[in-house]
Amino acid sequence: MALSGKVALLTGAGQGLGKGFSDILLKNGAKVALLDINETAGKNTKADFDKEYGEDRIIFLTCDVTSDKQLKGNFIFIFVILYQRCSASLCIEMIEVMS
Ligand SMILES: NC(=O)c1ccc[n+]([C@@H]2O[C@H](COP(=O)([O-])OP(=O)(O)OC[C@H]3O[C@@H](n4cnc5c(N)ncnc54)[C@H](O)[C@@H]3O)[C@@H](O)[C@H]2O)c1
Repeated sequence: MALSGKVALLTGAGQGLGKGFSDILLKNGAKVALLDINETAGKNTKADFDKEYGEDRIIFLTCDVTSDKQLKGNFIFIFVILYQRCSASLCIEMIEVMS
């Protein structure tokens, strides 16, 4: 499964199944955005993955996925940081669409 150039967003990724799925996606070449309400678990998971896969492929964002506002806001960061081809005008457009 080649996932190079793909970006995956994983919720509850600080531990357990979410962390396990993230590991499989990274092994197969994807970039991952790890979202979790537990900041300590999320940061520790990112640190583990950074060592194995390189920090440019992983971001961690503290997020309660039951909050529409937090989830939508985090999409902007994910586009900007992991895709790195999001123009300022596109970001503004996305914020307007999502708000
Ligand atoms: N482990 C299993 O065998 C199994 C089997 C069937 C179903 N499930 C279900 O799958 C889900 C995940 O299981 P797990 O074993 O990985 O659980 P887990 O408790 O190990 O991990 C869940 C992660 O989700 C995070 N989280 C919880 N609420 C959140 C929120 N509102 N926003 C963001 N992050 C949040 C937690 O901080 C934690 O890091 C659970 O709902 C569980 O009931 C698990």
